[in-house]
Amino acid sequence: MPVFRLLIAAFAATACGFAAVAQERLGLSDVIAQCAACHGADGIAKSADVPHLAGQQELYLFNQIKAFRSGKRPHKEMRYMSRQLSDAEMQEISHFYAAMRR
Ligand code: HEC
Repeated sequence: MPVFRLLIAAFAATACGFAAVAQERLGLSDVIAQCAACHGADGIAKSADVPHLAGQQELYLFNQIKAFRSGKRPHKEMRYMSRQLSDAEMQEISHFYAAMRR
């Protein structure tokens, strides 16, 4: 029965949409956990080729993440990491790291 199938498909698509939105909403701490893999849970990077973020100027951090997202500051991993961040999320993340003590 094609109409029935169509309804199921529409319902499934809507449910997925909701799930995606829900994930995005609670996602900030998950995102920061991903950043921590390279930049450290305390904002201090373990690897010598990764910059520390803890205690850095908030506006500077925001501008850098934005530049990574747009590609103005070219960097493969950072472009990938910032690609889905909204301005508001970048602001929150910048605030989070700027408030950390070194
Ligand atoms: C795969 C490792 C990796 C991950 C994951 C990662 N970064 Fe980075 N990040 C780097 C490296 C390496 C650089 C230095 C880039 C360069 O050389 O230009 C950097 C640079 C930065 C800078 C610029 C710092 C400065 O002093 O100029 C900011 C801000 C930043 N990352 C934030 C984040 C945020 C926020 C996340 C999570 C969304 C994140 N990073 C995830 C590796 C990573």
